[in-house]
Amino acid sequence: MKIALGSDHAGFPLKKVVIEYLQDEGIEFEDFGTFSEDSCDYPDYALKVAEKVADKSYELGILICGTGIGIGIAANKVPGIRAALCGDTFSARASREHNNANILTMGQRVIGPGLAIDIVKTFLSAEFQGDRHQRRIDKITEIEKKYNA
Ligand code: RB5
Repeated sequence: MKIALGSDHAGFPLKKVVIEYLQDEGIEFEDFGTFSEDSCDYPDYALKVAEKVADKSYELGILICGTGIGIGIAANKVPGIRAALCGDTFSARASREHNNANILTMGQRVIGPGLAIDIVKTFLSAEFQGDRHQRRIDKITEIEKKYNA
């Protein structure tokens, strides 16, 4: 499994924690920036990661900003992206099982590092359940097509 990672300055410290976890677990990843706590704009990193996940170069993505909100809103503008903001493990599991989320977003100013790692573990290990959930995902794709035509 290859993970595309990104954050803005406000998510940079938590991204370092996530990187340590991925390295310890031997999970392949690439960090698409930012690379410091210097102020930057979260849509730039949302776009880099979302495009790599949408074109299937990477199976899943993880994006972190201060709240996880802005970076997720931006990522969801890329067709094919289903970015889910998770602040608990129940949502992280459901986002994969029901919504087939392909990007996890988290807020460094909202959750601590311990919970964040539990959320990452859950997100990466849960599997999409298909069936009725696929029908709903297909309807989301139809909405996307309607407005991107
Ligand atoms: C940056 O200050 C902050 O606005 C950003 O990280 C994020 O929380 C936006 O949604």
